[in-house]
Amino acid sequence: HCEIMSSLMWYSVFVTLITSRTVSANESSTLDMKVSSCNITGVWSNELGSTLRVKAEGSEVRGVYQTAVESTRGAAGLHRTAQIIGVVGNGTQPAVSFSVLWEKGSCSAWLGQCFILRDGEQVLKTFWMLRSVADNLAGDWGSTRLGEDLFFKT
Ligand SMILES: *[C@@H]1O[C@H](CO)[C@@H](O)[C@H](O)[C@H]1NC(C)=O
Ligand SMILES: *[C@@H]1O[C@H](CO)[C@@H](O)[C@H](O)[C@H]1NC(C)=O
Ligand SMILES: *[C@@H]1O[C@H](CO)[C@@H](O)[C@H](O)[C@H]1NC(C)=O
Repeated sequence: HCEIMSSLMWYSVFVTLITSRTVSANESSTLDMKVSSCNITGVWSNELGSTLRVKAEGSEVRGVYQTAVESTRGAAGLHRTAQIIGVVGNGTQPAVSFSVLWEKGSCSAWLGQCFILRDGEQVLKTFWMLRSVADNLAGDWGSTRLGEDLFFKT
């Protein structure tokens, strides 16, 4: 028993030494790669493969959304893309909101927040609503969809 314990102990000391040496050798490159603040500017994609290409200037967000899905065939237009207009806060993990108007007249809005995960990866956790155009008031009840999207920075 004692032998197993001591060899385990030596093993853990060994592993600790190796690990701490690797970490210190890579400290600068790790620091360069890790982000301490969300950067909304760039390309994001969600769980469906839709992409969000945006640029933030101050609190304004502009860009292009390309959707991988649509409510009815052709609703999002030939290229399934639309201009984005939005806003973003200025903290390290800011709240974000953006909207698009689709070619056939429906519109979508996303509302959420950017978070930095433990490994330094940035995610946008959002809720969205999609408003389709109803022919008249009687069709209003079923014209709004609600869902969730998780975007990862690519
Ligand atoms: C340390 O950095 C080197 C050079 O950038 C890289 O090849 C190596 O995989 C890194 N090791 C770890 C554990 O991240
Ligand atoms: C945010 O990311 C973009 C695109 O990768 C880059 O050009 C820009 O310098 C970054 N901004 C900051 C403040 O890091
Ligand atoms: C942005 O930062 C400035 C200065 O730190 C602060 O006064 C302002 O309230 C912030 N705005 C938002 C929307 O967080």
